[in-house]
Amino acid sequence: RRPPSRKGSMADVPKDLLDQINRLEDLFIVPTEKLKEITTHFVKELEKGLSVQGGSIPMNATWCMAFPDGYETGTYLALDMGGTNLRVCEITLLEEKGEFDIIQSKYRMPEELKTGTADELWNYVADCLQQFIEYHHPNEDMGPMPLGFTFSYPATQEYIDHGILQRWTKGFDIDGVEGKDVVPPFEAAIAERNLPIKLTALVNDTTGTMIASAYTDTEMKIGCIFGTGCNAAYMENCGSIPKLAHLNLDPDLPMAINCEYGAFDNEHVVLPRTPYDIIIDKESPRPGQQAFEKMIAGLYLGEIFRLVLVDLHQNPDCKIFEGQDIKALNKAYSLDAGFLSAIEEDPFENLSETHDIFSKQLGITCSRPELELIRRLAELIGTRAARLSSCGVAAICKKKNWETCHVGADGSVFNKYPHFKLRGAQALKEILDWPAGKGKGRGDPVEILPAEDGSGVGAALIAALTLKRAVAGQV
Ligand code: GLC
Repeated sequence: RRPPSRKGSMADVPKDLLDQINRLEDLFIVPTEKLKEITTHFVKELEKGLSVQGGSIPMNATWCMAFPDGYETGTYLALDMGGTNLRVCEITLLEEKGEFDIIQSKYRMPEELKTGTADELWNYVADCLQQFIEYHHPNEDMGPMPLGFTFSYPATQEYIDHGILQRWTKGFDIDGVEGKDVVPPFEAAIAERNLPIKLTALVNDTTGTMIASAYTDTEMKIGCIFGTGCNAAYMENCGSIPKLAHLNLDPDLPMAINCEYGAFDNEHVVLPRTPYDIIIDKESPRPGQQAFEKMIAGLYLGEIFRLVLVDLHQNPDCKIFEGQDIKALNKAYSLDAGFLSAIEEDPFENLSETHDIFSKQLGITCSRPELELIRRLAELIGTRAARLSSCGVAAICKKKNWETCHVGADGSVFNKYPHFKLRGAQALKEILDWPAGKGKGRGDPVEILPAEDGSGVGAALIAALTLKRAVAGQV
């Protein structure tokens, strides 16, 4: 048995809870060897996604075909349709290398919209754009502004300004959009309002993150999101994308690939799924999809935690929250990743913040041993997420034989979840077996760093690069 996480601290935890902690550790701890096994399988699945036959990781060609050189110029709009917010930005790329100005407005994305109708969605998006233009350019008679639209869902693209939604992810479930090009209804809503906007590029948040980060750091090779969802993009060369061979593109041309690796292991070969992960999948709007994402992304962390606690409460061998009304805890998706963050941030000595949020938000009074179990559970779920996340990054590096590179990362989990960065870096070290001194004294050979604003500056840069290619008459 592994020792409890803090020596001696669990001395007063009764045996039934200690047994449960041990059981949860067995379920949630992912040892180095397992991380390596997952990564090896991951590399094969990335290759499969690029093949003609395809696999479960989509490996979508994005038609973003260059890194910025820092000298892009012009004014662009960027629209980011995220899970909680809708953000509109106007970005001016300046003459000075790597410099830009930005103005932006955020609009709340109503929860009902995620499961409403397609018309409601596109009208809402267009209304926000209209408000932005009316506010920032009142009574101006302006020509159409190029727009980079960050649409962070898997899309099949034959051109950069179109995209057929493969399937909704991250809890979105709007009828009549999957399998169709999302651009025409978006453009129709824009045209109805006579807005001076021309959609120039449909962008995934990971591609935007990679390009925005590469704008200021030439060692950036991968863009990652660890947020509501989890995914990465990297730059491939066309010669290594068999599914595009029929287009006879120059094999040396770069092509950004949006991996959509949240779908890794949908066939359940290698990931150590727990009974709780299986419930999450079954009860989601798209069972069988996004197996990897459902174990690690922010949307699901609080729900995994909640399912474990409900299960423990119902377990006759364990007396957690005995005699208390757990009605509030029974509500699906009532706890978010922020709830777990607060628990992990709480000083272990008294866990008073944890005690208070359980009592205020859930009406549950926790004993000290219960608080310790709760804390350990949050650590286990947060650590598993960070460690598994690193397998995707390691797999891209292995596939490309990159021994050193920078990875630009964004998303609420990466930016806000306590210890996520450190735990992820530790896992990368274990997977990639770094000998001492490989980091040339600067840091780790593969470093995951906070990214520049991908869905703002990144989307604007991709729009700029697209127009540049069009002027040059390139594909
Ligand atoms: C989901 C989406 C993907 C996006 C990721 C992060 O995995 O399918 O497109 O990049 O979430 O937002």
